[in-house]
Amino acid sequence: MPEFVPASRVTRIKSSPSVAAAARVRELKAEGRRILDLTVGEPDFDTPQHIKDAAAAAIDRGETKYTSVTGTPELQKAILQTLHRKTGQHYTAGEITIGGGGKQVIFTAFMATLDAGDEVVISAPYWVSYPDMVLANEGTPVIVSCGEDTGFKLTPEALAGALTERTKWVILNTPSNPTGAVYSREELAGLAAVLKDHPGVYVLTDEIYDEIHFGEEPITSLVAVAPELKDRVLVTNGVSKAYAMTGWRLGYAGGPAPLVAAINKLQSQMSSCPSSISQAAAAAALTGDHAFVRESVEVYRERRDAAVSGLNAVNGLQCATPEGAFYAYINCAGVIGKTTPDGRQISNDEDFTLYLLEAASVAVIQGSAYGLSPYFRISYATGLPVIDDAIAAIEKAVRALA
Ligand SMILES: Cc1ncc(COP(=O)(O)O)c(C=O)c1O
Repeated sequence: MPEFVPASRVTRIKSSPSVAAAARVRELKAEGRRILDLTVGEPDFDTPQHIKDAAAAAIDRGETKYTSVTGTPELQKAILQTLHRKTGQHYTAGEITIGGGGKQVIFTAFMATLDAGDEVVISAPYWVSYPDMVLANEGTPVIVSCGEDTGFKLTPEALAGALTERTKWVILNTPSNPTGAVYSREELAGLAAVLKDHPGVYVLTDEIYDEIHFGEEPITSLVAVAPELKDRVLVTNGVSKAYAMTGWRLGYAGGPAPLVAAINKLQSQMSSCPSSISQAAAAAALTGDHAFVRESVEVYRERRDAAVSGLNAVNGLQCATPEGAFYAYINCAGVIGKTTPDGRQISNDEDFTLYLLEAASVAVIQGSAYGLSPYFRISYATGLPVIDDAIAAIEKAVRALA
């Protein structure tokens, strides 16, 4: 067999660390070990019944064919209403795109816009996929470290310092994966003021976790704060996280018509459209009863509070309180340099996460995967008993370090 040589776009990127972590957890479980898994990037709830019913009804009606690239009229209407609710701005059918998850929408947006050397400003810690999506599409990720002192958020000064002639995009993710940080209205206004002076720069606001937040006020979209930027902002979202629909693979975005047309042109050659059944389910999710969303946020809140207070009680760990999503990003500087009972030194956050897996059977993801060390990410999209047991096991493992 001839040696297989992948395209350079494949060798430029790495596989998703969270997918790799999930595979490792599955392997260990298959060996019979009880793993306390805090790596999961998806809700642990089932999709609400009324959404499943809408999908079943679509099947029964024979809605099992290709749809238009931008979806069924029902889904389009649902997305336009939703974008209006979230941004306060009116979008038209020519300003929306859909895809197989928010992930695919973002990937296609980069594919539609990046040429070799075009820069994309990404604040770290970042969702693991952004830099690799940029690299796969010939772009250059420009990573801006945003530490705990700014709540892990991009400041106007840091943004201004990162913009160059080659900047094509700035990515904002609120609430953030992996930190749960949320941009306030004032913070967004500060960033918008910088962006106003750079008319060639587009902004991708990834708002996939926007329904999962713990404050009184809804999450603010950049477009709501700075409508004058609407013609260069792509608002991306999807039904995965809010409605526990990760497996349905349905994401969407709203943005300026020429950009969206370019994305849709690629979509027409890539997948034609996402599953017609998932489209019916997504339309029901967006327009239907939101009690599930409210109830699940209360469950996440209880778990968040348990995780944050439990982890802060561990000597050497510090956990800021996340304002949204279902992750926490924990500072583990206090354990770096220590030695494990079997004599290995913890030199970085990757060593620490490996130690937690081996010594405490707790699976978490190292901060280096998200571009800011020494930290680790936990997901609390898992039951309280697992969270409580994991914290007790982490505490014991940390206590055993010398
Ligand atoms: C920040 C962020 N954006 C986008 C996505 C994509 O989600 P999906 O493709 O399921 O819509 C994820 C999923 O983990 C995410 O964490």
